Parts: sequence; structure tokens; C-alpha cells
Amino acid sequence: MSTQHRPLTEAERDQLVAAATRAYQNAYARYSNFQVGAAILLENGETFTGCNVENASYGLTNCAERSAIFTAVSVLGGDKVRIRAVAVVNQRGVACSPCGACRQVIAEFGPQAEIFFIGQNGIQRSSLRELLPESFGSEALG
Ligand code: THU
Repeated sequence: MSTQHRPLTEAERDQLVAAATRAYQNAYARYSNFQVGAAILLENGETFTGCNVENASYGLTNCAERSAIFTAVSVLGGDKVRIRAVAVVNQRGVACSPCGACRQVIAEFGPQAEIFFIGQNGIQRSSLRELLPESFGSEALG
């Protein structure tokens, strides 16, 4: 059974955005020149960060959000990764919400996660319910 999670405090949100901001500085974005950083806060209190990693074969690019999540899974094991919140920022400070693929991956590890991203008026808060309604989930697989 899923429980409602405690919303982040303003200070927690600011810390997560700051971690994402540090993370984009490691982005490997030589093709798009669009550096993205993400940070995830887990229910156990740990934070993991990631950046986008591009490739000369463009389609192999990994977004910042998935980099952060895959790092957490690699370090902790997937069963221990329960995402409370995600923050994503880019070096241009332009509006940018998580792509469809990342929304689906966030859903796997944090169906109730709060999502913070740059919107039209600065940092915007959303939820997966808003960003990925009717998402595909493991229930379908029995
Ligand atoms: N990108 C991310 O890393 N996260 C997003 O939320 C949107 C897009 C990356 C992928 C690619 O390296 C670059 O931004 C331009 O699409």
C-alpha cells in the first residue's frame, strides 16, 4: 500500500536544487550545449545527483534525471531506492521539465515523488500524477 509522503520543506527543496545546480557542471553535452543537472532525495535521506551524458550517436544520450536514478540504484540496489523528490535544472535557466522517458523511470522508483523543475516563473513544483497520468506500472505484469 502506498502512503502519502511528507512534502519537502523550502530548505530541503533549496538544497536539492543546489545539488542539481552543482551536478550540471559535470554534464557531457558537447552536441546540444544544453547542460542539465538532476538531484534526487530518497526516503532514507540520501541525495544522489546526475548530469546528461551525450554521445556522437545522439540517441544514446542519457538524461540527467536517469543518470541520478541509475547511480542510486547502482550504489544502493534498486529495492532501496524510493524517491521522495527530484530536482532538475539547466545551465541556461530556461524552462525544462523531465522528458517522457525520465518520467517513466521516476515512476518506477518514486510514484509519489515531488518534481521540481524550471518553469516559466522559476522553480515549479509538480507531481508524477500531473506529469505522467495513467502511467504504465508493474501492476500490469501481475
Ligand atoms: N535533457 C536532460 O538531461 N534532462 C531533461 O529533462 C531534458 C533534456 C538533456 C538530454 C540532452 O543531452 C540535452 O538535454 C538536450 O536535449
